[in-house]
Amino acid sequence: MKEPKRHTITAALPYANGPLHLGHLAGVYIAADIYARFLRSNQEDVAFICGSDEHGAAITLRAKKEGKSPKEIVDLYHTNNKEVFKKLGISFDIYDRTSSKYHHKTAQELFLELEKKNAFVKKESEQYFDKDFNQFLADRYITGECPKCNAANAYGDQCEKCGSALSPTELINPKSTLSGKIPELRKTTHWYLPLNKHEGWLKNWINTGVFRGKQLHDVSKWKNQVVGQCLSWINAGLQPRAITRDLDWGVKVPLKDGEGKVLYVWFDAPIGYISATKKWAEEKNKNWEDYWKSEDTNLVHFLAKDNIVFHTIIFPAILSELDGYILPKNVPANEFLNLEGQKLSTSKNWAVWAEDFLNDFPNQEDVLRYVLCSIAPENKDSDFSWKDFQARNNNELCSIFGNFINRALVLTQKYYAGVVPTLGELIEIDQEVLLNLEEIHLQIEKDIRAFKFRDGLSNAMKLARVGNKYLAETEPWKLVKTNPERVKTIMNISLQISANLVIVFEPFMPKKSLELANLLNIEIPKWSYCGNQNLILEGHQINKPNILFEKIEDEIIEYQINKLKSSNKNQTKFSPMKDEITFDEFSKMDIRVGIIKAAEKVEKADKLLKLTVDTGIDVRTVVSGIAEHFSADDVVGKKVSVLLNLAPRKIRGVESQGMILMAETEDGELSFVAPTKEINPGNTIR
Ligand code: 2FM
Ligand code: ZN
Repeated sequence: MKEPKRHTITAALPYANGPLHLGHLAGVYIAADIYARFLRSNQEDVAFICGSDEHGAAITLRAKKEGKSPKEIVDLYHTNNKEVFKKLGISFDIYDRTSSKYHHKTAQELFLELEKKNAFVKKESEQYFDKDFNQFLADRYITGECPKCNAANAYGDQCEKCGSALSPTELINPKSTLSGKIPELRKTTHWYLPLNKHEGWLKNWINTGVFRGKQLHDVSKWKNQVVGQCLSWINAGLQPRAITRDLDWGVKVPLKDGEGKVLYVWFDAPIGYISATKKWAEEKNKNWEDYWKSEDTNLVHFLAKDNIVFHTIIFPAILSELDGYILPKNVPANEFLNLEGQKLSTSKNWAVWAEDFLNDFPNQEDVLRYVLCSIAPENKDSDFSWKDFQARNNNELCSIFGNFINRALVLTQKYYAGVVPTLGELIEIDQEVLLNLEEIHLQIEKDIRAFKFRDGLSNAMKLARVGNKYLAETEPWKLVKTNPERVKTIMNISLQISANLVIVFEPFMPKKSLELANLLNIEIPKWSYCGNQNLILEGHQINKPNILFEKIEDEIIEYQINKLKSSNKNQTKFSPMKDEITFDEFSKMDIRVGIIKAAEKVEKADKLLKLTVDTGIDVRTVVSGIAEHFSADDVVGKKVSVLLNLAPRKIRGVESQGMILMAETEDGELSFVAPTKEINPGNTIR
């Protein structure tokens, strides 16, 4: 096996039929981006390819549901998704789309090349047909009972409950998704990929990495669950698979007898990787064939487990029939991400949408990248919860990484006006730390190359922990008067660790890495500088310190949990009743009429207003999360209900003494709860 000279990294093309959610990001795109960024940082040649998958029933059914054309749907979501990926720092070299003319042409050319090589068989068969709609019913156009697990509403191509791949005629009691009626069978002709003919070499290739007598990849590097899934498909016996459909949305079959037919979406979508690479190469003046036809190219497909078969069996079978194409060196598929202990479901709206996150957590994209990588479903399904998100931000990013950086920068500013001090004589603790610097980055590199991104990230954090511990143990603030030379060495080493953190975190948290580089007043160094003990030279001027990570308050997390629960279509539109309490417990609450005397926005907190409230018995400050609904001017003079004896809490540095009661509609609109008669502040509410 040759050392790769370049890398073609593909990330599964998401259907342009809806917005992206955290499951997409954790399953595919963050892992792929970390890999691509690391390789670029290591100055390796990378083509990182993605785009929108714009064909198939996923699109046409969505269009029908919304009363729009398929084109309107794909135009909308292609643009939105592309933008969301960009905001999240996913560094595709190209984000293309399969509805483009260029892609249609490429897919048709490859179809014709295969047809010429007799790679297909043409066959007539009986397929379901909806008379009312005058349409054949492929894939998701037909539903019925799953013959394997008896789940209702399995699709014609797959049962979502048990994951079995199905063909429409296997369904029990099939029904058309268009008319809801029982369909009839009609004859039609299609092109099939005879996977049965490929079974032998595919099995050998999956088991040994050998194809046509050449060792192409190291099988021990493939994930067990990926190999397991491939073998269970192959061992069940591969059947010819139709690669055309009777539909009018998709890539037209470029043959006379193919009129009215299009290529099956799972035939044209992976070809989308090739057409996107060609387009990118044309724009960059590169040779696309290097990226698809050269044995020293490392082709890696990133995707989630429901896409494995298409990338390890069907697409390789297609590639093997074409002239000179390589096969993937690895398909490091992830499992699924659950949400708050439940399966993520877009139809039930049990999802956190990436765009909502970006709006609700400005400038915190990298916190999301950090958390999703920390919990990535690399080997088994994993769970995202808002409380865990908060804990990882507050206890890891703020308390360890942020705290270390802040101390290193603040002390350098304080003692040396931001000028990097001289490194003096090293003692054991310094040498140990510097050794760590050397060893940890090698481990991170190993992890990333083995697609163990969780381990890689936890090792990057290990370096931040090393720095934090170093400062805690050496306590330069205690030595500054008695041993100033020693403090110079400690601060120099701390700054070297900080600069190394810029490099090792770049693949994982690119924006934070850049922010840190700016604070240190350096460019982001390339990976080869990792472990370097003299990344920042003495005498170099660093910039004024600034906080890298902000704590996330409980209120923000509670808001997200409520938002998720209230938008879940499984629930009634109102939140469920809380646990019973006694009358004594209720009477402990001191709720009174109050009047808002003054109001102002809390700095750097979009949701908070600082209110001065006359409660009749005193005038106090209450911080309230209503700033997105009311301006300060709106609320002055308003009568409100105030919970007086709530223990005071600091919110964004302001002590809040009590709580204003608000009524909230199911759409999240807020209203004050005030007496309907003239009642003075101080009077009780019971
Ligand atoms: O499952 C999906 O979302 C598909 N659109 C993935 C396609 S991957 C590739 F082949 F393009
Ligand atoms: Zn099933």
